Amino acid sequence: MPATTATAPGKIILFGEHAVVYGRPAIAAPVTQVRAEAIVEDGEWAGIRLHAPDLGRDYWLSEALEDDPYARAVLLVAETTRLDPLPNLSITVRSNIPIASGLGSGAAMAAAVIRALTRHLGYLNQTTDEQVSALTYQVEKLLHGTPSGIDNTVVAYERPVFFVRQQPINRIETLSVKGPLRLLVADTGVVSITKDVVGDVRRQWQAEPRRFEQLFDHCSRVAQVARRALENGDVGRLGQLMVENQNYLREMTVSSPELERLIGTAMATGAIGAKLSGAGRGGNMIALVEEEVEAAVRAALVSAGATNVLTSVLT
Ligand code: PMV
Repeated sequence: MPATTATAPGKIILFGEHAVVYGRPAIAAPVTQVRAEAIVEDGEWAGIRLHAPDLGRDYWLSEALEDDPYARAVLLVAETTRLDPLPNLSITVRSNIPIASGLGSGAAMAAAVIRALTRHLGYLNQTTDEQVSALTYQVEKLLHGTPSGIDNTVVAYERPVFFVRQQPINRIETLSVKGPLRLLVADTGVVSITKDVVGDVRRQWQAEPRRFEQLFDHCSRVAQVARRALENGDVGRLGQLMVENQNYLREMTVSSPELERLIGTAMATGAIGAKLSGAGRGGNMIALVEEEVEAAVRAALVSAGATNVLTSVLT
């Protein structure tokens, strides 16, 4: 059988990170310039071989540790398709999404493996966005502890989404953005572990529930107004809302000197709005810009220490 390839994009959170863990709405969008790719081929040897050349890893599924995300993705597909044992396969995963920087690299790699593998095995019904998202969520739990579900949703649907974590099923609405909206995505170069930051916010919420519930409510309002502004292409309002959301994130103590430096630089050079994106304490920030100032803001971000700057245009 020929090889089967699938990809999944990186992602940014536009509004509502952290509050989304506590049932408030959040908005995320794919970053399609950076992607994870999985290639599944029939194997020549007995067993399933996993290759992750970017990570310098090459190993058998049977030898993988219990918390190995690729192995978990493969085993979840085996369980769902009830194919036991799986045929002999070789699975290669590559990605140019920076890791541990809030761009959803873990979710994208898992989604790419799940999509490529289910397709290769002929389980086309398992490759709907909803199913890929649900299986990716199971892998995310391994990586993040208590993920809200927004990362797996946006990388599986590959569309901007308005997301609310709720029982019995999450509210997921794809958004029609009145674009083009131009965002610079700048990396502080500081590695941040989502699980640790989410855990720290939880401790603060437990210590000061009233204050944190209020902060989450403010973020909720921002996300709801932002949804309308995105649908109406109201760039000025979106910029204000990003600044407002950043104020609440700062109060949650998830910003950092490096993030503040990049956010301040972007605003001083003509960005319409800027905020951190994802868990914070490092990773990436996003700045909303008009095309005319994009080059100047990008150059200023690099001078201020950004290790990588991507442009993401939402249409
Ligand atoms: O660090 P990231 O991009 O994986 O984003 C995490 C977003 C949080 O809201 C902080 C956590 C979550 O599970 O939604």
